[in-house]
Amino acid sequence: MGESATPPKTVLAIETSCDETAAAVVCDRQILSNIVASQIAAHRPYGGVVPEVAARQHLETINPVITAALGEANLDWSAIDGIAVTCAPGLVGSLLVGVMAAKTLALIHGKPLLGIHHLEGHIYASYLAEPGLQPPFLCLLVSGGHTSLIAVLGCGNYEILGQTRDDAAGEAFDKVARLLGLGYPGGPLIDRLAQTGNPQAFPLPEGSITLPGGKIHPYDSSFSGLKTAVTRLVAKLKLEGELPVADIAASFQAVVAKALTKRAIAAAVDHHFSTLAIGGGVAANSGLRQSLQRAAEPLGIRLIFPPLRLCTDNAAMIGCAATDHLQAGHLSPLTLSAQSRLSLHRVMELYGPKIDH
Ligand code: KG4
Ligand code: ZN
Repeated sequence: MGESATPPKTVLAIETSCDETAAAVVCDRQILSNIVASQIAAHRPYGGVVPEVAARQHLETINPVITAALGEANLDWSAIDGIAVTCAPGLVGSLLVGVMAAKTLALIHGKPLLGIHHLEGHIYASYLAEPGLQPPFLCLLVSGGHTSLIAVLGCGNYEILGQTRDDAAGEAFDKVARLLGLGYPGGPLIDRLAQTGNPQAFPLPEGSITLPGGKIHPYDSSFSGLKTAVTRLVAKLKLEGELPVADIAASFQAVVAKALTKRAIAAAVDHHFSTLAIGGGVAANSGLRQSLQRAAEPLGIRLIFPPLRLCTDNAAMIGCAATDHLQAGHLSPLTLSAQSRLSLHRVMELYGPKIDH
């Protein structure tokens, strides 16, 4: 869409699918404001996200966050062309808070409403990082809830080439961090600790999916076996009286990075993608970045790593996706609902009949 003849679209976007209350104002691929209120402190005592706590926190924070996003963009309502909101997938109580706020604002101010798929938002973080980016490209999306290899073919047009069959990559980081007594969220803590450990200290299984007939699925991943192996290793080492946490963190991180790199590069080569964009919180991982860089460079595959604040959950990425949908004439009905699950290839179900400019 970057070269569309239509005038730029400015969108107020809301994101409340998990544990960040976020609002942003985006004009096509330019961020005018991007406010994120993290709930990490509220969930830390429980060692993970508690859905009921998350929904209550969203309710308390949403209005000030929206006001701050509009204030920072320094725009009044007449400059806003649409209201965007993450409506799927995610924690349904959390999503509902955002969806209700967006619908109310759309109704009061007479603005078009756009429901946005959370994973499509993560893909659009790469468009914010590189406004000249055009599909097709491959996206490796690695977050707390998802691990997917997505062929990005156009706005609303995605093909899932591979995904995890059990735990998401970020979930595995969080669970292993808990096993090592590191705290929550675990990804950044393991990443930091791994820098001082030996990645070859402990051989750990990569985890893979075997297809009928015995072949390994080239792009799907599995992290639950790895998590079980770390659980057993930790129990054994504790019995032996020593727990070299940095070596365990480094060994675990290395095997996750290897598994993700192998699948992403295989998909890029097999499907002739010359650009690989990375998204989701785990894209921040230094081991994964290094491993992807080492593998992609000799093959001439260009990597896009959006800045960390755009990799983790935020509303700017949701707004950016919405401007593309708005440019394409896609609008959601005011009956839009929150859905805890929705496959990415069904994203166009969020929109009604096409509206021409
Ligand atoms: O994309 P995100 O903010 O939220 C979801 O949509 O899930 O991702 C959060 C996940 C958490 O599991 C967190 O532990 C992980 O991203 N994460 C990391 C790092 N920073 C965040 N994982 C590994 N290394 C990191 N540096
Ligand atoms: Zn996310």
